[in-house]
Amino acid sequence: MSKLGRVVASLPIPPVLRDRVDAQFDCFAPDRHLRTDDVLALADQHQPDGLLVSLGMPIRAEHIARLPGSVKVIATTSVGYDHIDVAAANARGISVCNTPDVLTDATADTHMLLLLGAARRAKEHVRNMDGGWNIRNGFFQGLGVDVAGKTIGIVGMGRIGRAVADRARGFRMPILYHNRTRLSPDLEGDARYFATLEDMLPHCQVLSLNLPGGQGVLMTAERFALLPQGAIFVNSARGSLVDEDALLEALKSGQVGAAGLDVFQKEPAYDTRLNDLENTFLLPHIGSATVETRTAMLELAIEGIAEVLAGRAPSNVVRL
Ligand code: 8YV
Repeated sequence: MSKLGRVVASLPIPPVLRDRVDAQFDCFAPDRHLRTDDVLALADQHQPDGLLVSLGMPIRAEHIARLPGSVKVIATTSVGYDHIDVAAANARGISVCNTPDVLTDATADTHMLLLLGAARRAKEHVRNMDGGWNIRNGFFQGLGVDVAGKTIGIVGMGRIGRAVADRARGFRMPILYHNRTRLSPDLEGDARYFATLEDMLPHCQVLSLNLPGGQGVLMTAERFALLPQGAIFVNSARGSLVDEDALLEALKSGQVGAAGLDVFQKEPAYDTRLNDLENTFLLPHIGSATVETRTAMLELAIEGIAEVLAGRAPSNVVRL
């Protein structure tokens, strides 16, 4: 089989996929994650047809402008594409591919881990165990709150939001949601739609963010104030959706009872004041981090490059 073209990658290709990649492309892959400027330099050197990149590599309009004319496709190993200026890429005739579907379950599972970790004060208890179980909790100490039966409000009812709803049903949680458009009855099921976030917030004992980033700050001080006192806040979507100073204040006052967060305004240099609070449970952006899911994500990104270079429209091309 003749090769489809040249690819420059910003991340290492794991051994399990290396043969497949080499059979399809001449692929220049590093042994560590590269930064945007390094990838641009490699692109200049190798004049690739495709770029394989990851979330940690912003590709803004000024970077797109510096790409060689040979580049026809950029595939990101993420479902989110807020780190890429897709409009600028498309304007240069470059397609952008992402990795929808394959990470839905892993990300929704992480979301439930955040919810349970926050509700049950997991950080405090893990720290106690790390310290040799020096704190002996009495019968009425170290208590969390039940998740079962609490009303959850899901913001963003795409694939991941719906997978969170499926899991929440297992916890017998009444489901509310806010979305740009109302779902069809078969997708909506027993979930109750709110056309405005403001109307939904006062009913959310748990508030769950499951929408794409890149649309500015959604959770402001005013909106946290609309939640019922002590609500649990869970975010596995994007840190850019949250005013973290407002969240810190709400966590300190008890307006937000606990927060489970996998994403932050700044990563990895996140605001560690969030971790100083007892009522948070934090993870380092591991939403999709399972062997099966990350392998499937990389496969799908590579598939997108192959499809574009073969002259076909991939199912995972980003359409604005
Ligand atoms: C990943 C994510 O952990 O896909 C996304 O948009 O935020 C996460 O699933 C990340 O993309 C890994 O690169």
